[in-house]
Amino acid sequence: MSQSILRNDYQPYPYQIPYLHLQFFLNFNQTKVCSRFTVYTKKPSTTLVLDGEELTLVSIRVDGMTLSADQYQLTDTHLHLSLTNTEHLIEIESICEPEKNTTLMGLYQSGRQLFTQCEAEGFRRITWFADRPDVLSRYTVELIGDKTQFPYLLSNGNLISQSDLDNNQHKAVWEDPFAKPSYLFAVVAGDFDCREEKIKTASGREVLLQLISDKGDYDKTEWAMQSLISSLRWDEQRFGLELDLDRYMVVSAADFNMGAMENKGLNVFNAAYVLAQPESTTDQSYRDIEAVIGHEYFHNWTGNRVTCRDWFQLSLKEGLTVFRDQEFSADMMAMGLEGHAAKSARAVKRIDDVSVLRVAQFPEDAGPMAHPIRPNSYEEISNFYTATIYEKGAEVIRMFHTLLGESGFQAALNNYFARFDGQAITCDDFKQIMDEQYQKQNPGLNLEAFSGWYEQAGTPTVTITLHYDAKQQQATLFFKQENPAVGVELLAPTTDKKPLLIPFKIGFLNQAGQTQKVCLHQDRNHEFMLRIDQTEQQVVFNDVQSTPVLSLLRDFSAPIIVNYDRPTSELVTLAKYDDNAFSRWQAIQELASQTIFSLANANAEANEDALIEVWGQLIQDRILSAAYLSRALSLPSVRQLLSQQRPMDPLSIQAAHQHLEQALAERFSAQWLTLYHDHQPTANATYSPDALSAGVRALKNLALKQAAIAKHPEALRIAAQQYAQATNMTDQWGALTVLVHYADAELREHYLTAFYDQWQHNALVIDRWFSVQATAPYFDVEQALQLQQHPDFNLRNPNRARALIFQFCTNNITAIHTESGYDFWRDQVLALDALNPEISARLCRAFDNWSQFVEPQRSQLQVRLQSIAQHPKLSANVTEIIHKALTIE
Ligand code: TRP
Ligand code: ZN
Repeated sequence: MSQSILRNDYQPYPYQIPYLHLQFFLNFNQTKVCSRFTVYTKKPSTTLVLDGEELTLVSIRVDGMTLSADQYQLTDTHLHLSLTNTEHLIEIESICEPEKNTTLMGLYQSGRQLFTQCEAEGFRRITWFADRPDVLSRYTVELIGDKTQFPYLLSNGNLISQSDLDNNQHKAVWEDPFAKPSYLFAVVAGDFDCREEKIKTASGREVLLQLISDKGDYDKTEWAMQSLISSLRWDEQRFGLELDLDRYMVVSAADFNMGAMENKGLNVFNAAYVLAQPESTTDQSYRDIEAVIGHEYFHNWTGNRVTCRDWFQLSLKEGLTVFRDQEFSADMMAMGLEGHAAKSARAVKRIDDVSVLRVAQFPEDAGPMAHPIRPNSYEEISNFYTATIYEKGAEVIRMFHTLLGESGFQAALNNYFARFDGQAITCDDFKQIMDEQYQKQNPGLNLEAFSGWYEQAGTPTVTITLHYDAKQQQATLFFKQENPAVGVELLAPTTDKKPLLIPFKIGFLNQAGQTQKVCLHQDRNHEFMLRIDQTEQQVVFNDVQSTPVLSLLRDFSAPIIVNYDRPTSELVTLAKYDDNAFSRWQAIQELASQTIFSLANANAEANEDALIEVWGQLIQDRILSAAYLSRALSLPSVRQLLSQQRPMDPLSIQAAHQHLEQALAERFSAQWLTLYHDHQPTANATYSPDALSAGVRALKNLALKQAAIAKHPEALRIAAQQYAQATNMTDQWGALTVLVHYADAELREHYLTAFYDQWQHNALVIDRWFSVQATAPYFDVEQALQLQQHPDFNLRNPNRARALIFQFCTNNITAIHTESGYDFWRDQVLALDALNPEISARLCRAFDNWSQFVEPQRSQLQVRLQSIAQHPKLSANVTEIIHKALTIE
């Protein structure tokens, strides 16, 4: 059984290691690594404990003397050296095997290239070292390898020298001027194409930007380069933060566990988040690339210059950096727009971010893996790169931003860098900085009640009741906040959880949908930011002329669930008139959710009239942006609906969802077709991924899909025509999805074959070819097993596994929720676990919430989890998930 690591057990490392010298003799099968460093301590006679895994030891020298086997202690995970003095020179030689490394952690081979991935604990698979984020060292790295095999030899920082050696070998020496923890170390070697750009930073320093990709992919790195330059500029302008290196490299990798990695000066990216060209990349991917390039670049300050003391503090860098990339994307989407249009563009970004939070993070926060954004324990840290740490973490930063305002927040961040630059710190340090600024701005108040956001798991529920006194023109709002124990909190039922400080933005409308000004204390307005921080609390508004229609939690000002009982007619009013674009969308979504739930419950009162009234108005609207309309006219996903249902009944929700989708599509099929024709690109327009054009394409492709669902006689013909004429992947993909999901088998096969033939040499597009099938209504377990036999399927490539297996297990509701679907899931978890435990553990999480399902699914899933648990060779990663899933119900 794996051991839990506890946050409260933190001990500073007893040694300092200011410099680290590394020498690599690069080979695919065996790479020799020689490390040299001096350790310093104030406490002599302390054992030096170094982390190391999957390494073969060649030799250890201490102060120049080679140790014999009885002079050190070696286990599977550690090297212990008994030292006597305050200062010792350590030299270690070891060998690792990149070719055999299927985990994609440490040094691994991908194609004919070598990459490293060190976060969180991968450096220990390269050499024995203090592999923890609070040991900061300055690295010098010598890379030696075959000149033909590895023309590029890259590491962090500045290139000091490059020279030829005997036997067709060459050597590059890199020096990183900034001290860093081992998780930010990187090496890349191989043959590549390289796109370069020299630009001047705000202070006038010249920097070299390089985008490094597989040979032949040069043309696909232009967008990433543009995004990188936008990121640099944005961080200068909005945060006053400049690039601190002379050289900044971004490398594309075909095999990669996650999105990308912020290694100092040498970011490594999943190819899916770098490579783009109009004909093979969708609008969504263009946006994702910009966001991830931004994210990794922003880490250079929030993560690298100021880093984490230990992995419990992960959200210190991730929550803050996600908040920054969200704001970057929002600013980029609103660029060039003004007033209402700019607001609407930002609302679309907010809608998309909140949708991700609700689909991924809310269920996590209600299941066995629920954890605070600063966890108190973990078994395997790579299991904690979660939606909670990232997305909820970003929401927590956003609440600070809301409480302080933009200028206050920026002032606080200035203090943050002034105080903590070059250090490894905690979330408490960050909170302290925010609190100081808050107290400066709000004499007598503080952020004490905010700390629960770091300490407690679970999504708070706020239930609101309204009492309106017409005679007194007074509206009294009662807020009741609930924070029941969830996840690990259920195992240690100690103290009661405390109420959280919730910034709650509220708007007032009247029954006709017009804004209504009311009074709170001295303030007369139609919108207020309330400070909710009690379990029960009431707020009294005066001068309320008529029964208010409340627009609640505007802009999603806090990551909570709001309960407020109100007549459907009020939701309709908000759906039509709410002047807050986010809340308007929210009202439309609530209306749709209610309709689906009553259909699923075979509720006699179930009727679609209200939603039809709202959609009828929206679909004629020519003022709202196309991007906004495409969100407003989409039903909440089955996964999101399920997260609101207990017990979860996936098949009935799926059926109700489908029924409503069908009814709406048929009801509006003529309007959809008009919308489709009204949103055609102007002739000869060159492709641009900007938000306005992308919005138009999103709405057009939604219209096409709706027409197909309605079985409009024109739909498939139009889809075929769009497919044939498409000059960009968004349009080709939109058409293909319709043709594969809604046409008959013959037509579908025709297009699948055509698409494959056209794109067989582009791995990222072939990923799409796998996923369009995995999510298709006709696709079942048998076909999934068959598609796995396709020569292009490869379980070792995470993108491919995600395209087929993850898509099938998470998004093909009808096929996966069957006995054979669950068998498939179990078998894939086990097969992946033997290769890549990080990826396997993520797949395992697809059903960690088994106990929330209705019967018979609940028991059927339980049996599969139990059989995974009994597997003789299970990784620590999967062990933790399964163990928690089976013990925390
Ligand atoms: N720190 C990276 C980011 O957020 C993500 C990351 C963490 C990662 N662990 C990883 C990427 C392992 C790849 C593999 O940008
Ligand atoms: Zn990150």
